[in-house]
Amino acid sequence: MRVLIENIGILAGIDSHGKQRLCGKEMQSLGILNDAWLLVEDGRFAAWGTRAEMPAEGIAADEHVDAEGGAVLPSWCDSHTHIVFAGSREAEFVDKIRGLSYAEIAKRGGGILNSADLLHTLSEDELYRQAMVRMEEVMRKGTGCVEIKSGYGLNTADELKMLHVIKRIKENSPLRVKSTFLGAHAVGRGMTQPDYVDLVVNEMIPEVGKEKLADFVDVFCDEGFFTPAETARILEAADKWGMKPKIHADELASSGGVEVGVAHGALSVDHLESMTVEEIEILRDTVTMPTVLPGTSFFLNLPYGKARQMVDAGLPVAVASDYNPGSTPSGDMKFVVSLACIKLRLLPEEAINAATLNGACAMGESQQYGSIAKGKVANFFITRPIPSVSFVPYAYTTPIVERVFLGGKEC
Ligand code: NIG
Ligand code: FE
Repeated sequence: MRVLIENIGILAGIDSHGKQRLCGKEMQSLGILNDAWLLVEDGRFAAWGTRAEMPAEGIAADEHVDAEGGAVLPSWCDSHTHIVFAGSREAEFVDKIRGLSYAEIAKRGGGILNSADLLHTLSEDELYRQAMVRMEEVMRKGTGCVEIKSGYGLNTADELKMLHVIKRIKENSPLRVKSTFLGAHAVGRGMTQPDYVDLVVNEMIPEVGKEKLADFVDVFCDEGFFTPAETARILEAADKWGMKPKIHADELASSGGVEVGVAHGALSVDHLESMTVEEIEILRDTVTMPTVLPGTSFFLNLPYGKARQMVDAGLPVAVASDYNPGSTPSGDMKFVVSLACIKLRLLPEEAINAATLNGACAMGESQQYGSIAKGKVANFFITRPIPSVSFVPYAYTTPIVERVFLGGKEC
């Protein structure tokens, strides 16, 4: 099956070098062709070129798509979300406006624990239904590959319920989905911290591992949540089941999460709102992708991560949405890219690479997703005609995505 997309105003995100991630200055290059065509064969990118390079006899295809002068970009790769959750938490949003901080709400037993209480009351089917509404929403906004965490169960049965929902999403959604076990998101109600960590290590991880429900393991390693020592213990237990670490680090304070993540070969360390310059050095020459979540800084009025300094230091950087009911009730990756430019001071090309190829890398998926490269899965979207790629983050609330293709099929 060959699909030819013609009349493309701007074809962006072409990667001819087969890079798995982009570091430092490399992040400025976003392969671009103007007035182009793109051929997809059996769901994968096969060839592209400019109109002038089109063979005189044309290109044979089973289906022709007219991009009507719009831009084609590789789908967003959102490497950090909590898209499976129950209900919403706008009452806390109002509490925050009145002056309470995220940490204070958590300390009073609200926050994540409120979401866990509500999730406990919902059936797996209802949880799945609510999550699929959000999946549809982010797909229409251009996301094609997404990581989803558990972490609102906080007891074994409810953590498994969440992971079963994520498994169903994996099986039924056209998006590529990766799953993460985040049992150590908060201490379950009525439990002591040491007892809860024991439960995560001795019961939850083996159950999750036996059912192969998680690709990754995560810990909220932060002030008021889990310590680096507890994090290390959890990562080591999960490693026995093949779950690679992705860590919540430095959201509320510089709290050792970067160090413990790097020491355990984490795929990514995420948040980094409170990271220090010393931690930039810890990340140098490692496999760990620093992942900044500017939507969280925006919504919680936290400092913005040091993405500019990291890129200037030659590191790779990814950006992700953190879509969740407490700190970022939005999975809009185009807005994340705008914030990456406006608040993190990344150039549009750097921000788009951070939200595509480097995001895919933070999920261990950059061999198959994240750029327009020969043989990669054809996940892309077509925009309305736009004057340049800089228009994407510039027009920060203008919806531009017109058509979405995942695995080469229009969704
Ligand atoms: O990434 N910080 C920890 N977890 C989420 C928020 C969870 C919540 O408040 O529901 C985050 O920001
Ligand atoms: Fe998060």
